[in-house]
Amino acid sequence: MAKMEVKTSLLDNMIGVGDMVLLEPLNEETFINNLKKRFDHNEIYTYIGSVVISVNPYRSLPIYSPEKVEDYRNRNFYELSPHIFALSDEAYRSLRDQDKDQCILITGESGAGKTEASKLVMSYVAAVCGKGAEVNQVKEQLLQSNPVLEAFGNAKTVRNDNSSRFGKYMDIEFDFKGDPLGGVISNYLLEKSRVVKQPRGERNFHVFYQLLSGASEELLNKLKLERDFSRYNYLSLDSARVNGIDDAANFRTVRNAMQIVGFMDHEAESVLEVVAAVLKLGNIEFKPESRVNGLDESKIKDKNELKEICELTGIDQSVLERAFSFRTVEAKQEKVSTTLNVAQAYYARDALAKNLYSRLFSWLVNRINESIKAQTKVRKKVMGVLDIYGFEIFEDNSFEQFIINYCNEKLQQIFIELTLKEEQEEYIREDIEWTHIEYFNNAIICDLIENNTNGILAMLDEECLRPGTVTDETFLEKLNQVCATHQHFESRMSKCSRFLNDTSLPHSCFRIQHYAGKVLYQVEGFVDKNNDLLYRDLSQAMWKASHTLIKSLFPEGNPAKINLKRPPTAGSQFKASVATLMKNLQTKNPNYIRCIKPNDKKAAHIFNESLVCHQIRYLGLLENVRVRRAGYAFRQAYEPCLERYKMLCKQTWPHWKGPARSGVEVLFNELEIPVEEYSFGRSKIFIRNPRTLFKLEDLRKQRLEDLATLIQKIYRGWKCRTHFLLMKKSQIVIAAWFRRFAQQKKYQQTKSSALVIQSYIRGWKARKILRELKHQKRCKEAATTIAAYWHGTQVRREYRKFFRANAGKKIYEFTLQRIIQKYFLEMKNKMPSLSPIDKNWPSRPYLFLDSTHKELKRIFHLWRCKKYRDQFTDQQKLIYEEKLEASELFKDKKALYPSSVGQPFQGAYLEINKNPKYKKLKDAIEEKIIIAEVVNKINRANGKSTSRIFLLTNNNLLLADQKSGQIKSEVPLVDVTKVSMSSQNDGFFAVHLKEGSEAASKGDFLFSSDHLIEMATKLYRTTLSQTKQKLSIEISDEFLVQFRQDKVCVKFIQGNQKNGSVPTCKRKNNRLLEVAVP
Ligand SMILES: Nc1ncnc2c1ncn2[C@@H]1O[C@H](COP(=O)(O)OP(=O)(O)O)[C@@H](O)[C@H]1O
Ligand SMILES: [Mg+2]
Repeated sequence: MAKMEVKTSLLDNMIGVGDMVLLEPLNEETFINNLKKRFDHNEIYTYIGSVVISVNPYRSLPIYSPEKVEDYRNRNFYELSPHIFALSDEAYRSLRDQDKDQCILITGESGAGKTEASKLVMSYVAAVCGKGAEVNQVKEQLLQSNPVLEAFGNAKTVRNDNSSRFGKYMDIEFDFKGDPLGGVISNYLLEKSRVVKQPRGERNFHVFYQLLSGASEELLNKLKLERDFSRYNYLSLDSARVNGIDDAANFRTVRNAMQIVGFMDHEAESVLEVVAAVLKLGNIEFKPESRVNGLDESKIKDKNELKEICELTGIDQSVLERAFSFRTVEAKQEKVSTTLNVAQAYYARDALAKNLYSRLFSWLVNRINESIKAQTKVRKKVMGVLDIYGFEIFEDNSFEQFIINYCNEKLQQIFIELTLKEEQEEYIREDIEWTHIEYFNNAIICDLIENNTNGILAMLDEECLRPGTVTDETFLEKLNQVCATHQHFESRMSKCSRFLNDTSLPHSCFRIQHYAGKVLYQVEGFVDKNNDLLYRDLSQAMWKASHTLIKSLFPEGNPAKINLKRPPTAGSQFKASVATLMKNLQTKNPNYIRCIKPNDKKAAHIFNESLVCHQIRYLGLLENVRVRRAGYAFRQAYEPCLERYKMLCKQTWPHWKGPARSGVEVLFNELEIPVEEYSFGRSKIFIRNPRTLFKLEDLRKQRLEDLATLIQKIYRGWKCRTHFLLMKKSQIVIAAWFRRFAQQKKYQQTKSSALVIQSYIRGWKARKILRELKHQKRCKEAATTIAAYWHGTQVRREYRKFFRANAGKKIYEFTLQRIIQKYFLEMKNKMPSLSPIDKNWPSRPYLFLDSTHKELKRIFHLWRCKKYRDQFTDQQKLIYEEKLEASELFKDKKALYPSSVGQPFQGAYLEINKNPKYKKLKDAIEEKIIIAEVVNKINRANGKSTSRIFLLTNNNLLLADQKSGQIKSEVPLVDVTKVSMSSQNDGFFAVHLKEGSEAASKGDFLFSSDHLIEMATKLYRTTLSQTKQKLSIEISDEFLVQFRQDKVCVKFIQGNQKNGSVPTCKRKNNRLLEVAVP
């Protein structure tokens, strides 16, 4: 903890002088030179006593790092080189330790660095005050309110790229420990005319450019905007982009800041919607339209923009359109509607845009306040930071500049009051010798502006409220009358003779000699801007919006709350709020930062002496130094002074009995402080030089350390002794208790030992019995086990043969049997039909049954054939025998055979018995007739055929005439030797006769018949049964026959189709008979 503290002083390594009070000699020139010298060495801060002068460096200097913060933390004001942090630290500690509310008053021209200074103060305080999550959140919210307000309230002007266009006063609230609790922001008069028009080289408020550059496409679409500045009439184009400002990045910063401050997403979106609506309002244009009655009317040129605005804000399009073309004046229950001409319509549009924007801004401030307000009701300490627009002198100065400059007058006033006047007055009060110093008191200028009866603002209000035609000119006239004699007022028409000839003053202007210089105000627009008129139709239209934010911005539009009274004018509102501010500031301990602008070019390193000189003069800084030098740097009431330093002197330490003043006298004498270094006032001691104070402080610190050691020594001694006594007392108690405890413990031990031994013995005995019992039980169990095993072996030996070894075979056989059984049972069910020609047979189930299956099939077939045969009658049997015989004879030999298979062999085709025609023939034959059929007998000589009845009996072959039934030839069967035929499909056959027999005299026969196969078969069978000889049958396509003496060759020729499908027979010569078979 014992940190070595480096003793430093303001006087170390000083460039020029750090405190103007030390300047020698003191005049304007040395003052400026000192400032310049320091400025050139990057020392932008210089003190006048406790006032900080800050010269804008217009570049970032490495003097705000966290290390610097640590350097200045808890250090005496005069200990380090001048810095804004020193002032911040002083103010903060005074607030925290002495419970004094503070205010930081930052003044200077536009662009002099006020806003930056206010941010530096805030960030320093944030850095040194309490830590912890909650506190950090409060700090973060306080700091992040800046980017939001700057986006909506700052703009680029010719003087400053980030000029605040509103006044801001922020109260930061702390608890008793100095931790921040929250804050309250007050805003003053936003320069809303900027929304609709900007001077050349300047821009509209940052937020418009930020939105168009930084918003995502999606957001832009939602807001119905385009990323093109030139699309919007309200955006000046010549300086839309500013070097060193990244609008897109700033947009993201602002969105982020809004989130941190506590804006809900939908709130942030609503705000952007209002911004978009304002932008789009500027694009609404009007065109004239004259009516029959001569009244001028205006009409909206392109309704698209209006439509989109209405969609954005949720206002009925017709309502807004009407509000742009009519004006309703209400007076004493009467309502009069008049149409607006083009100029009025534009006026209404701009008024709406300005109002919408400025109300949005006020809403934002309130919303931020809601987020940052302190959550507790405990008593708060307050540090106010005032960053208000600086003194402004433009080419054209209007109502806004007038108001701004008035505010600066008031601030100067309070500065004068609190520093110069107060100081002097205090000296007088305290009866201290004082050389009077002349200074300019600007109260007279304040009075010119704010006097309630004849001040300029009062005149303006009067004009605004007066019935009849009111113009800026009439206002000026009035001013000329009332203020003419005022020293600080000038105008061309002024009655004051001094200015009668003053033609340098243009018409419709007036000039005020402010404390900071003369400013010429254009009177044009004063009345309007003071009135700040928004047609009621428009506010009512806005109130009807479904957009909740917009609706809430226009509460006066609520028809239920109609208020015929005029709202307070802008001027009087401002005056009132300035008055409140002044009152507020007066209750606080002031800390001054006076900002100076070194050049008009916003450039680093340039120090324009005349410009600085002007500012030094009107800020009254020289007077400030003089007052400081003539007086005393430090003053304090006697009581606290004695209380603080009494330890430095034996008489006053530890108690001084007597009046405080004499105590301080004794003290100072004792310390041998030179008499000229201090003076005794009535209630306070005045110390001329800060160094004397430092010396006192150092001595005190030293002494405090000694005293601390002393206190420590006594305290430690006392503490040790009491501790010792306590220990002694305790020792006796502890010893008594311990002895008792020891005895008890010993007894318990003996007792428990006896128990242990007892239990061991009992245990041992019990275990012994148990062992015995266990042994007996084991013996019994062993006998049983052995018996069981023995029985087991016996039984197994007996039954082994039933198991395992034979099982496989048995199972196999059983299975096989089962399969075969199943096979047969299934076969039984699947038997095919009994028809011998049925080829069906069930498929084989197992491969090993293949041969059985085939055998079964064969047996079954044979069996069913037999069955089939068994059905035959004897007759059928005969027929089949015959057919079988035919098959054996002709199958695969004669082509005609297959066609005969289907024909039943009838034998007696001719019913000789029944036909009376053949009665004679029948009678001639006694034997049984086997064949009776008509055949063609081939003539041996020419091959022609004649029909003959062919009869076969048991013993003879007979041929008879078909018509008469006359028997022509009769051949006993024994004489028939052979039958010949072709292998072809014809019915020719030759019957060969035994040579030499009676029948053979005419030679062999050659027939042709349709039933060749049957006849040949029957002939064969009959011959066999009668003669017991096999008739030879020759099948050949060429055979010899015996016709009488000749042997003739019968030859079968294939393929001659000439004679149709019937085979023809032709005798070629005596050796050849040709048969053509188709
Ligand atoms: N301490 C500083 N360090 C660096 N730049 C500064 C400082 N103070 C002011 N500036 C520069 O000057 C510009 C104007 O300062 P600002 O505080 O906005 O002026 P004012 O609020 O007085 O009109 C700032 O944007 C910044 O660039
Ligand atoms: Mg500013």
